Amino acid sequence: MRLGTPLSPTAVRVMLLGSGELGKELAIEFQRLGCEVIAVDRYADAPAMQVAHRSHVIAMTDAGALRALVEAERPHLIVPEIEAIATDELARIEADGLATVIPNARAAQLTMNREGIRRLAAEDLGLATSAYAFASTEAELAAGAEAVGFPCFVKPVMSSSGKGQSYVETPDQIAAAWAYALASGRVEQARVIVEGRVDFDFEITQLTVRSRRDGGVVTSFCDPIGHRQVKGDYVESWQPQAMSPKALARSREIARAVTDALGGLGLFGVELFVKGDEVWFSEVSPRPHDTGLVTLATQHQSEFALHARAILGLPVDVSLREPGASAVIYGGMEATGIAFDGVAEALSVPGADLRLFGKPESFERRRMGVALARGDSVDQARERAREAASRVKPVAG
Ligand SMILES: Nc1ncnc2c1ncn2[C@@H]1O[C@H](COP(=O)(O)OP(=O)(O)OP(=O)(O)O)[C@@H](O)[C@H]1O
Ligand SMILES: [Mg+2]
Repeated sequence: MRLGTPLSPTAVRVMLLGSGELGKELAIEFQRLGCEVIAVDRYADAPAMQVAHRSHVIAMTDAGALRALVEAERPHLIVPEIEAIATDELARIEADGLATVIPNARAAQLTMNREGIRRLAAEDLGLATSAYAFASTEAELAAGAEAVGFPCFVKPVMSSSGKGQSYVETPDQIAAAWAYALASGRVEQARVIVEGRVDFDFEITQLTVRSRRDGGVVTSFCDPIGHRQVKGDYVESWQPQAMSPKALARSREIARAVTDALGGLGLFGVELFVKGDEVWFSEVSPRPHDTGLVTLATQHQSEFALHARAILGLPVDVSLREPGASAVIYGGMEATGIAFDGVAEALSVPGADLRLFGKPESFERRRMGVALARGDSVDQARERAREAASRVKPVAG
């Protein structure tokens, strides 16, 4: 793909479907290479829209609206940033040769639904996963939970960031878990996965890149990212996560198997559970991963730079520069147009950096920014990132 000049006939036009904080960093990377960036989301002034050439507000789950926008804009590349997209329409767009979908429409279809990716990983590829069952009624859920055993996790098949998820310890909690999953699921279709708990030592994101080299596609692996989740949402991540050579090798085998099966070009976030030398596959994002925000502080090329380069058919460098960490900054309030106190104090923490996403509306548990830090060790970087994040105080406008 020959790069050109934005807003001219030589432009490489990139349409981002989803314009949050990950899309914003990705848009900046495409901008740096002179691509024309079109940002799309379901609300105005989303983070990536603020750094794009143009933006559109549509319901991305609406197949007709998505098709009309693609026909009007004629992007060369469609880059999903979120899961909740009319992926069947993406498949038609791809089949009609209207645009290249990243990494491809089938990968977007499989990963937007926990059932698709779980069956691929566990049943087609034979990878180790938690015990699981699917359920479309409360009775099926009760039976599934008995089968996988307690404690277990109940998750809508279409959801992310912990939405609609319950941790269930006893059979009498099933009814509440079913009701909660239905209330927070993305679609009317009632379907959940129930997963037995994997008793892991730690969990990682194995960022994996499929890029072009010498006419073929090569797979490269970033250093493992450790992270801590609270209620299904990441609060802190660091890189590198120390692990046994065997567990690292197994992680990469799993990541390679899954990304080979999904195909296409770009970066993937493969989520894995690790106990000693043992590794379980959890899920995969065919796009930059929220825990990978740490790579803005740690790698020569962040996960966003890697994704943009791989997509454009360019070489990538996945090497680590130095240890680092990220810590999430939540809004802590319901308000629009909030301000941030304590930024200078946060940036006076040695080795610390900050991203404020510019989201127009704050919620109690909405991610509004992230503190980044480098350090001599992961422990030092984690301490610095947490300290910097704690110094930033969201305040009503
Ligand atoms: N079967 C399991 N065993 C142990 N822990 C689990 C299991 N399933 C989920 N978890 C915990 O809950 C977290 C969120 O689960 P999962 O990644 O499936 O949800 P998600 O909504 O897709 O979250 P995100 O979008 O932030 O990745 C995991 O990172 C892990 O900490
Ligand atoms: Mg996850």
